[in-house]
Amino acid sequence: MKGIILAGGSGTRLRPLTGALSKQILPVYDKPMIYYPLSVLMLAGIQDILVISSRDHSDSFRALLGDGSRLGLNISYAEQDQPRGIAEAFLIGADFISDDQVALVLGDNIFHGPRFSVLLDDAVRRLDGAALFGYRVRDPQRYGIGEIDADGRLLSLEEKPRHPRSNLAVTGLYLYDSDVVGIAKNLSPSARGELEITDVNLAYLAQGRARLTELGRGFAWLDMGTHDSLLQAAQYVQLVEQRQGEWIACIEEVALNRGFITPEQCLRLGEEMRGTDYGAYVTDVASRRLPKLVLRAA
Ligand code: G1P
Repeated sequence: MKGIILAGGSGTRLRPLTGALSKQILPVYDKPMIYYPLSVLMLAGIQDILVISSRDHSDSFRALLGDGSRLGLNISYAEQDQPRGIAEAFLIGADFISDDQVALVLGDNIFHGPRFSVLLDDAVRRLDGAALFGYRVRDPQRYGIGEIDADGRLLSLEEKPRHPRSNLAVTGLYLYDSDVVGIAKNLSPSARGELEITDVNLAYLAQGRARLTELGRGFAWLDMGTHDSLLQAAQYVQLVEQRQGEWIACIEEVALNRGFITPEQCLRLGEEMRGTDYGAYVTDVASRRLPKLVLRAA
């Protein structure tokens, strides 16, 4: 399966923070925002990743992540000159996707919860059509809203409904089979002039091939589109990391756990960040995997 991170947009709601920087490169507590969606794709076992950004900012993503080889990834880059909707990612990424399955994640989304990698593995293994992830929200008018049957099959889907039929929002992580490119090519722009991801999902729904897995209580799904939500996300990450000593979206740890890099490689990455808590954490997770040197009294 391929992976796409959509890190485009002009970040207007975060001005002046985004005057010179891409939104998805802004710090969220101890790491750049894009680490969070990147870690989600990696947790799903994906190593071939396309980062789509605006032309102005693609160099900063290249400088940050390079070709991905240090993390055992293969990262490539593409540009979206005007934000024309989430589903445009499948047109920009058509050659990259080729006839493979693909996961799309929005560049400003954080997912954090128990056994998330198991849930992702399961969704990848069972994928037939579209696999979406739902989260109960207090303000359903702001999202794509779905209804599901007891089996997780999607029954209805509406984009930003005035009278929502449920409060189950469709989050910014979408898994599709290779039909998605053809579906995206046939979309017409919506009233707001965008190629809507909801229209892609409706095409799969019409074929009876769309599933939605609810991320239940105890999960956090956060997006970071405003100053307040950006700060809240940073505080959430700080709280969990300091309380639990388990880092969120530590891409070096995920690469190690997924077998993309060896403990020795992970250790070197940690040592490069020596002097920070983040670096110490990476060094620690790597050390725990290295054979122990046993010292015996002579
Ligand atoms: C988009 C989608 C919406 C989804 C949301 C998730 O909305 O259109 O269906 O629920 O992302 O963040 P937008 O953020 O483009 O308004």
